Amino acid sequence: MDRIVVTGNGPLQGTIPIAGAKNACLTLMPATLLSDEPLTLTNAPRLSDIRTMTQLLQSLGCEVTSLQDGQVIAMSSHDIGNLTAHYDIVRKMRASILVLGPMLARHGRAVVSLPGGCAIGARPVDLHLKALEAMGAEMDLRDGYVHAKAPAGGLRGGEIDFPFVSVGATENALMAATLARGTTVIRNAAREPEIVDLAICLRKMGARIEGEGTSTITVEGVDRLHGATHPVVTDRIELGTYMLAPAICGGEVECLGGRIELVGAFCEKLDAAGIDVTQTEKGLKVSRRGDLIRAVNVTTEPFPGFPTDLQAQMMALLCTAQGTSVLEEKIFENRFMHAPELMRMGARIDVHGGTATVTGVKTLRGAPVMATDLRASVSLILAGLAAEGETVVSRVYHLDRGYEHVVRKLRGVGAKIERIKGE
Ligand code: UD1
Repeated sequence: MDRIVVTGNGPLQGTIPIAGAKNACLTLMPATLLSDEPLTLTNAPRLSDIRTMTQLLQSLGCEVTSLQDGQVIAMSSHDIGNLTAHYDIVRKMRASILVLGPMLARHGRAVVSLPGGCAIGARPVDLHLKALEAMGAEMDLRDGYVHAKAPAGGLRGGEIDFPFVSVGATENALMAATLARGTTVIRNAAREPEIVDLAICLRKMGARIEGEGTSTITVEGVDRLHGATHPVVTDRIELGTYMLAPAICGGEVECLGGRIELVGAFCEKLDAAGIDVTQTEKGLKVSRRGDLIRAVNVTTEPFPGFPTDLQAQMMALLCTAQGTSVLEEKIFENRFMHAPELMRMGARIDVHGGTATVTGVKTLRGAPVMATDLRASVSLILAGLAAEGETVVSRVYHLDRGYEHVVRKLRGVGAKIERIKGE
């Protein structure tokens, strides 16, 4: 298994290009199932999760072609031969559940394996199923699979009132509603930029949607959707991650393609910690205001709040802040697995349930550490950039799910980092 070796090497300087959003791409790809005409995505990220979604769509009979070194994904679903998403692929990635709504809406039925557990918590899919039931679908859970059937004549518009915000359930409901008969109202909808991007793409395909980016989305169903070409929105999590690199080890880095509105709540916390962020024509420029990082308290929330997907990376920054920071994780249980690894590097962290208390230390020290999930893995790399000596991060396949060319991007701004091939 490959490892990444990072050596703390002082201030960083230069630019880092930010890719298209993994999480947007993972919902835009299943949207191909809604139409028999081609859907082409540009600005796609080159990631193993995208390859998993490609395999899943191909297993259903979609044609999926990767062009321009993976930055363009050309898809066609004119000939779907199979309406079953098998466990073998679904178990690799929870976002696989996003094929359920589109298949059900266009073909009237679908069988999708339940995604199962996940390292960062139980993560059920009950809200996805309830939303589709509100559109008239019948759900039957058998042998680890969801067997879904639309009423004769197809899904019908419905009133969906989510008890709490779910990004994935909002996406499944939104896609399914585009082809349902009548009007669907989605209340307490997720407001993430990836939802807005999906709505923009669906509208290009002929869907009638209003209210994306607010907590009420209204969809007027249409008979069919057509083809489109759509650029994937910038990855705000990759953006936030690389913004933390100069925050942690000094210097000035411009993250190309970055926009403040994608990372507003995160920038407020950076400001409080003593990090300057400036919007430039090309992106976001980040540097430290002084020598010290100040402690700040962070609570994760659905967008526009502080994203759970940046909590681990923010913790890496706060490990060397002056004072004590409290991080509250409100979205997922069990999402502090990076804490014991950071403690191996000399961090002082107390975890109690969904709260981590971080007392800043002067310096971190390099150590062998283990990646436990996608965002945890990159937080260890960030900590390694700031640490004295060498940090060796193992299990980096987690990283490949969500960060393309991490070594190349960080080397480009002067970091000392390399990937060692394992057997
Ligand atoms: C998406 C993102 C993930 C991010 C998360 C929260 C993708 C591919 N993944 O995941 O990176 O961390 O949003 O911003 O876009 N829940 C239920 N029942 C459901 C659905 C969700 O109880 O049917 C719970 C989850 O366990 C979790 C919370 O709701 O506690 C939010 O999850 P959700 O917003 O659905 O996350 P995902 O869409 O899985």
